[in-house]
Amino acid sequence: MDLSLRLINSYWHPLCHASELAEDKDFVRFNLLDFEVVAYNDKGTIIAFDNLCPHRGARFFLDDFGRSRIKCEYHGWSFIAGQAKIPKKEEFINCDIGSAALNQFKVARCGDFIFFSPTAEQNLQQQLGAELVCRLESISQAIKCRSDFNRYPFESYWPIAVENALEPDHIPMIHGDSLAPLRLQAGENIYYGENSIWFSPLGNNAIDEKLVKLGKFFEPAERYPGYMSIYIFPFAMISSTHGYSYSMQNFFPGDRTKTFFTSRLYQARESNPRYDEMVKSLMLSSASTNRAVFDEDHTICKRIPAKTWSTDNPKYYGQHEEKIIHFRQSCRRWVDD
Ligand code: FES
Ligand SMILES: [Fe+2]
Repeated sequence: MDLSLRLINSYWHPLCHASELAEDKDFVRFNLLDFEVVAYNDKGTIIAFDNLCPHRGARFFLDDFGRSRIKCEYHGWSFIAGQAKIPKKEEFINCDIGSAALNQFKVARCGDFIFFSPTAEQNLQQQLGAELVCRLESISQAIKCRSDFNRYPFESYWPIAVENALEPDHIPMIHGDSLAPLRLQAGENIYYGENSIWFSPLGNNAIDEKLVKLGKFFEPAERYPGYMSIYIFPFAMISSTHGYSYSMQNFFPGDRTKTFFTSRLYQARESNPRYDEMVKSLMLSSASTNRAVFDEDHTICKRIPAKTWSTDNPKYYGQHEEKIIHFRQSCRRWVDD
């Protein structure tokens, strides 16, 4: 079996924050390989299902996110509160129509982050480990809502896109005007099994001081006073500067020339409603910086053919590329000899 499919099947993958599915019928849709998963609020229960109607396979949702019934436009089958509503059901006499149901995936939560898995054997807590669970829970609880949704096909094999997000040495070359001005320090990588967090203090004191001052606009929370980048093996990153917003990036596999990339910017809770407008404008500016950073990453990743990647260590690697070694090691046990 292909590495991408094995990883999809065997792990839990973060899809969204609960605030994105706060109301009945809210949904967010994702592509992975040749299928789609929809995270959905079904009368207060969060479910995840294959986007194909079990009748004859029409796609339910075409939009990336929104609020809508699960109703197939082809012959009108709909699904609500776990029940199928099938027009002219009495005509389905030569089949077991009573078994007609959405094709559901497993769902689990870490705080307010919603994860899905097709067939993970370990539970989500085992996959993440207790310390990372704690940190993700507290981050998810500091988040108020989604403030940006950014999606496009990333023209690169997904491990290449992920590895790019795992090493900082390219920042001065690739992100000259966007990320480089923060002058991220080497900092420290902490490993939690196959996952990791990079804690990097800002070397630009002027920017750092400005950011510290913004703290009063947000509810008190546990915030890392620098740049933090959490890697959730295999396909997700959550990054933040000073904890005022969190950017979640999903690098879901497409074929060997395409990654289904989605980034969301989540806003932390304000300390007072009167800061609402001010925080919104701060989010707009963070969203536009993040979009620039991802475009820059995409531009360089497009230049790297899939055939250059393997689970062997690169022949040459610097000390700041240690997470690439760790990532390839994590992938290695899922490929055939
Ligand atoms: S394909 Fe969906 S109702 Fe027929
Ligand atoms: Fe980058």
